[in-house]
Amino acid sequence: MATGALPGFRDVFPDALVRRRRIFAAWREVAARYGFEEYDGPPLEPVELYTRKSGEEIVEQLYRFVDRGERDVALRPEMTPTLARMVAQRAAQLKKPIRWFSLPQLFRYERQQRGRLREHFQLNMDIIGEAGPLADAEVIAAAVDIVRVLGFGPGDVRARISDRRVLAAALAAEHQVGPAELPAVLAALDKFERAPEAAAAALERTLGGGRQGRAGRLLDFFAGLADPGALLALEAAAPLRECLDALRAMGLGGFVEVDFRIVRGLAYYTGMVFELFDAARSLRAICGGGRYDDLLEQLGGVNLPCVGFGMGDVVLGELLGERDGPPRAEPAVGVFVAVVGEADRPFAIALAHALRERGVAVEYALKRQALGKQLELAASRGARAAVVLGPDERAAGEAVVRTLASGAERRVKITDLEKDYVF
Ligand code: HAM
Repeated sequence: MATGALPGFRDVFPDALVRRRRIFAAWREVAARYGFEEYDGPPLEPVELYTRKSGEEIVEQLYRFVDRGERDVALRPEMTPTLARMVAQRAAQLKKPIRWFSLPQLFRYERQQRGRLREHFQLNMDIIGEAGPLADAEVIAAAVDIVRVLGFGPGDVRARISDRRVLAAALAAEHQVGPAELPAVLAALDKFERAPEAAAAALERTLGGGRQGRAGRLLDFFAGLADPGALLALEAAAPLRECLDALRAMGLGGFVEVDFRIVRGLAYYTGMVFELFDAARSLRAICGGGRYDDLLEQLGGVNLPCVGFGMGDVVLGELLGERDGPPRAEPAVGVFVAVVGEADRPFAIALAHALRERGVAVEYALKRQALGKQLELAASRGARAAVVLGPDERAAGEAVVRTLASGAERRVKITDLEKDYVF
């Protein structure tokens, strides 16, 4: 019996891969423009790497098992802890700020829905060793430039930016939320937009006192965050304001809005946090990231500030599909070499190989076939041209080049074909 792919996993057919390649090309292009170097890490990691700092939500989603060596291991659900460990190992030698990017495939046992799968590829771009807001602006700008490269404008995609330091300052001053309570309060705020009832229940659990007490006042505070004005004027918002100024100076201000309801689900963020959304907000975030200045210290004993983001291929793929329709496979074959009779075959194979040496994408029939059948295959491959070798032309050191779109034919010297003939 045929078995399908597991729920949330994809069989990626060549036409769908065209879209993924386009996304990867945009990722690599922008990473290169910003001077980032590529790194990679292991897809399987010790569970401890995530239980220590990523936060409850992601730990509950781990693909986790005990390996034959009795190690508790997990498929990586995110790249940031691996990055932190790798940088910590070489922290002394690496010139700061470090600009690194990676394109890992990640695995999370999530409830599958549109834009949310159990495996995805995620561009990670991170700057390590710079605490200032220009580094924050740099990674946000890179994320925005990727969607621009893919043809989206400020009417299609919005960047929502916030800062946990500002939220912490306001919560401490106005609601006496200290460092011990802060993580739970931020976790409730993270839920507030998607699931306000769950956020309220979580606050009541943490703070006690019911809706009339502190929990109720905090819910009012959450609701008031829709207007960022007052918080943006706080002293704690100075880095955020500087980051916004830099984005405006780059001409990207039109994409950006301050929104203090963004806190991000992962536990390790310490400062600026941001997400990119489709303007209609019909899908989960296109990307998310922020500043995490303590993670390297906690995972590797090295004190280095970090900022970065992760951008998945799934939501971007959905948006491209909505705009462009289903992806179409690109022709993989440029030139089809066909033979009139079996005596021509050795010459055809030699010519095909010479063309491949030149970098031309070449196919020929792998078994005896009538010329008509060969040309049919050439056309269905979308080849630009067929080169037909027959005894008469061969005797003259020539072949017939047939342009498949027009049917036009001309005789060309085989030595020219092998050298630099333009099809
Ligand atoms: P994240 O918000 O968990 O952050 O994931 C970043 C992006 O990856 C999301 O916005 C979404 O596009 C994509 N993504 C995540 N999970 C799924 C899923 N199940 N299906 C489809 N797409 C998904 C992080 O992972 C951080 N480590 C990012 C980061 C890097 N922060 C700083 N540096």
